Amino acid sequence: MTVSLQPEELGTSFELSDHLADPAHLRAIDFKALAPETDPGHPPRILVLYGSLRERSFSRLVAQESARLLQYFGAETKIFNPSGLPLPDDADTDHPKVQELRELAKWAEGMVWVSPERHGAMTGIMKAQIDWIPLSLGAVRPTQGKTLALMQVCGGSQSFNAVNQMRILGRWMRMVTIPNQSSMPKAFTEFGEDDRIKPSPFYNRIVDVCEELMKFTYMTRSRSDYLVDRYSERVETGQELIDRVNKSGN
Ligand SMILES: Cc1cc2nc3c(=O)[nH]c(=O)nc-3n(C[C@H](O)[C@H](O)[C@H](O)COP(=O)(O)O)c2cc1C
Repeated sequence: MTVSLQPEELGTSFELSDHLADPAHLRAIDFKALAPETDPGHPPRILVLYGSLRERSFSRLVAQESARLLQYFGAETKIFNPSGLPLPDDADTDHPKVQELRELAKWAEGMVWVSPERHGAMTGIMKAQIDWIPLSLGAVRPTQGKTLALMQVCGGSQSFNAVNQMRILGRWMRMVTIPNQSSMPKAFTEFGEDDRIKPSPFYNRIVDVCEELMKFTYMTRSRSDYLVDRYSERVETGQELIDRVNKSGN
C-alpha cells in the first residue's frame, strides 16, 4: 500500500507493506466502535507536527511513520514542514508559513506532536509552531477539544521531559491529550538505511499510540464544541454560546 504524505515539499511516498510486525493484529481493531451517531463519517483528519530541521531528523522520520500508520488505519494526514516558519512575533500573521500552519490546525480534528529532546526539553522549533497557533481565531478554535498524541526522540537513554512538557502545552491549548505516549531512546540506533524504524518494542509503542489516537478522535471529534463549552466563558460572552450548544443538541 502506497500512501502520499503532505506537504509536497517533503517529496515522500511510502510503502507500509511488510514493515509492520503483524498486520493481522492491526486490522482487528474497530476504531469506530465508540463513535457517536453524530460522527461526520469522513476519515479522521490528523495534523502531524515535528520539531527538528536536521536533514536526517529522527523526529521527522517518526512523524512520517505515524502518518503512514494513521493513513493505514483510515485517517487523512498532513505533515507540516516547519522550515521557514518565523520565530513567534518575528513576522506578521499573514506570513505564508504561519498561514499554512494555521489553516492546517483549523482543518485538523486531531494532532500528533513529535519533538526531539534537547537539553532536557522540547525543541524551540516544536514550541514555536504551537506558539503560532492561537486558542481562537474569531469563532474558530484551531486546537480546543481536538485530540493530541505525544512522541519524542532521545539521543541518550529513554526520558520523558519533552512529552511531559508537551502534555502541559496540550492542556494549555485545551486539547484532549491521549494517555499513551512514545519516547524512543537512542533514536540513531532505531532506523535502518532505508530511513524506516526497525521492528522493536519502540516501533510497536508508536503503533499503540496511533491506534489510541484513532479511537479517541472517533469518540470525541463531533463533540468538541460541547467538550470545550465553559461556564466562565458563557458568563463572559453572554447568551450566545448557550444558544449554540442548545441548538447542536448536545
Ligand atoms: C544541543 C543538543 C542537546 C541535546 N539534548 C538532549 C537531551 O537532553 N536528551 C536527549 O536524550 N538527547 C539530547 N540530544 C540529542 C537529540 O535528542 C537527538 O540527536 C535527536 O535525534 C535529535 O532529533 P532529530 O533527529 O529529530 O533532529 C541533544 C542534541 C543536541 C544537538
